[in-house]
Amino acid sequence: MLIRRTAAWSMPESQATPEHLAFNRRRVLGAAVAAGAAFAPGAAQAGIFDFLGKKEAPKPQPPDPSAGLYPVKRNEAYTLDRPVTPEAINLGYNNFYEFGTDKYIAAAAQALPIRPWTIKIGGLVESPREIGIDDLLKALPPEERLYRHRCVEAWSMALPWSGIPLKDFVAFAKPLGSAKYVVMKTFLNPDVADGQASPLYDWPYTEGLTIEEATSELPFLATGAYGKPLARQMGAPIRLAVPWKYGFKSVKSIVSIDFTEQRPKTLWQVAGPREYGFWANVNPDVAHPRWSQARERVIGTGEIRPTLLFNGYAEQVAHLYKGLEREPLYM
Ligand code: MTE
Repeated sequence: MLIRRTAAWSMPESQATPEHLAFNRRRVLGAAVAAGAAFAPGAAQAGIFDFLGKKEAPKPQPPDPSAGLYPVKRNEAYTLDRPVTPEAINLGYNNFYEFGTDKYIAAAAQALPIRPWTIKIGGLVESPREIGIDDLLKALPPEERLYRHRCVEAWSMALPWSGIPLKDFVAFAKPLGSAKYVVMKTFLNPDVADGQASPLYDWPYTEGLTIEEATSELPFLATGAYGKPLARQMGAPIRLAVPWKYGFKSVKSIVSIDFTEQRPKTLWQVAGPREYGFWANVNPDVAHPRWSQARERVIGTGEIRPTLLFNGYAEQVAHLYKGLEREPLYM
């Protein structure tokens, strides 16, 4: 039997939650909780979770040991044409299917343990190894970059990420000359992420870039945002940010980075091959099979803006696709 396995987030713009409903009091309070304001143990916290309709508050987690590193120095080469999305809005509106299929997964994501956290480096490398996130942050100190973020659902935000240029990580990993792709995977732990019990998706969440893309200037392994370590709902402790591609390429909570000769099958490609591809470069002139990509709704203000080719990063990335015109570059 054929099951239509498309993303629940892939609804037409017309069905997207109107701004005034999306950001009602309950959501904003949820965001404040998620921001950490109410994560102290005690009765007040339990009360807030009752109010949010959750039976149990997630167990409080120890503070992030990398907190003292932030804020980090901003790299002024990366500027924005729009205001940064307010932190509380970002923290309360996320896609992270491991914790649920709507945007309000912030409370559930607090159950994710983020220490110890190791990243396995494997595949076509000089020597496979593992590195703990805190050792990685010492070896490759983070910088701040302001990036646009465009979801395939036709909404956008603008983020102050802190992190490590992926090209520096690739140099650190020492891939062999035969490596053609960089494959990144999210943790697999259905005990804390009950979305991973769903048979509809090919867990763990997998994404990839070509080695040429990965060693270009923009791909960023974000370890922080808003001058702090990354919040769990944003993909703590380390996630990808590839701002010229639709947001689903930016895999969260990465535990392995492999170098391969074969192009990986990514989670959304497997779930909906007619709608989601490997490349997923932003292009306002190439519609999603079910909606236009010409415009985007700015989360937080509701402003409608024209979408930019490569999300405004054509100067940095267009050269990567010369000679690849026969590939489905924009899905
Ligand atoms: N990574 C994992 N592991 N699981 C996910 O569900 N969703 C993707 C991407 N990375 C997702 C993921 C999608 S569709 C988007 S738009 C962005 O994360 C959302 O990132 P944000 O919640 O920080 O805005």
